Amino acid sequence: MKLNPQLDKIRQSSTVAMADRVLALKASGRKIIPLHVGDPDFDTHSAILDVAVKAMQDGFTHYASSRGDLEFRLAAASKLMRENNISYDPATEILATHGGVHAYYLAMQSVLSPGDEVLIPDPSWATHANMVTLLRGVVIRVPAPAENGFIPQIDAWEAARTPKTRALVINYPANPTGVYPTQEYLQKLQKFAAEHDLWIVSDEVYENLFYGEKPISAGAFDGAKERTILVNSLSKSYAMTGWRVGYLAAPKRVIDNALKAGQNSITCVTPFIQKAAAFALSDADMQIAQDNMRAAYARRRALVLRVADEYPESPLVITPPQGAFYFFLDFRFLERSSLEICEKILEDVGVALVPGSAFGKEGEGFVRMTIAASDADVEAGIRAIFEWIGGLR
Ligand SMILES: Cc1ncc(COP(=O)(O)O)c(C=O)c1O
Repeated sequence: MKLNPQLDKIRQSSTVAMADRVLALKASGRKIIPLHVGDPDFDTHSAILDVAVKAMQDGFTHYASSRGDLEFRLAAASKLMRENNISYDPATEILATHGGVHAYYLAMQSVLSPGDEVLIPDPSWATHANMVTLLRGVVIRVPAPAENGFIPQIDAWEAARTPKTRALVINYPANPTGVYPTQEYLQKLQKFAAEHDLWIVSDEVYENLFYGEKPISAGAFDGAKERTILVNSLSKSYAMTGWRVGYLAAPKRVIDNALKAGQNSITCVTPFIQKAAAFALSDADMQIAQDNMRAAYARRRALVLRVADEYPESPLVITPPQGAFYFFLDFRFLERSSLEICEKILEDVGVALVPGSAFGKEGEGFVRMTIAASDADVEAGIRAIFEWIGGLR
């Protein structure tokens, strides 16, 4: 009996291999500093829990609308207006999803035919490419090397495009690099997409995690909305990763397609979770809670830089992220594979990290370290890394 050969094209990433190794070491009694996972260390705010519990008790335990309950869609539309200055019709242009991954899946289901090419920066979060493969699209990586600040030059997008290109994917602030581009760049990218009739799929799950100027949504330009598909979720910004709730915001015909794909895969998003998510998106105190979490990440980011200052002679030179909750540490001076470096650091000093190669060729030589961990772990982790480097010489 045959299996789907498309899945053979998706490799288990080294992230999974690292996570398995971490589990094995922990099981053997080793204390590991977990700086590898992209999951906020904060608990979901108790007021959000209360809304979910009450919704369950009030009977929101049946099937919900496949589009998402109107309350949730209204909350998402208000948020998009309030924070991103984009007007979406909650009746036709918003779809509730099981988190950002599912929103991205539905976006791709909605626009891709088998064989269509999709442009994806290298490095980038592995699921962006894997999903395209899963749907029988063709992934074309667009180099975004460190030298270009991990953002593809407009010429690089141009060079990668062919008549078969259907869409391009962006994710700013980016996982794993934390970068995001200027408004001018996004405008140029919109112009490029318009010239070639491409969809822009913009994964904005880290939009609320920034340490300087607020990033601009890819849909927030004149004429951009018609070709932009926004993917968002409450996972990172509200510390709700396990709730699996997010949304797609896009032109009506994209949502109409995505709705069919959603209806026939998950039926609907859990109704009491939608209630809690609508509350999180709307309540003023939850916005303050979100600001407080951002302040905590900013504090940890500063902590890493402070520790780095204690090692002025170290060949590890740290570039702080503009957004998201990752440092992309440049280990190219070691001239070893990033997987090898991560394995050695894990074995020698017990700090769990993710090899940059998990995000593409251009990530090789780099290592991703999260600051979505306690201050104590972040400080101990980065110090252990500097000491490990010092011990190599
Ligand atoms: C860029 C990016 N998009 C989406 C997700 C997944 O988000 P969600 O939990 O909302 O599915 C992640 C998780 O790490 C991510 O890094």
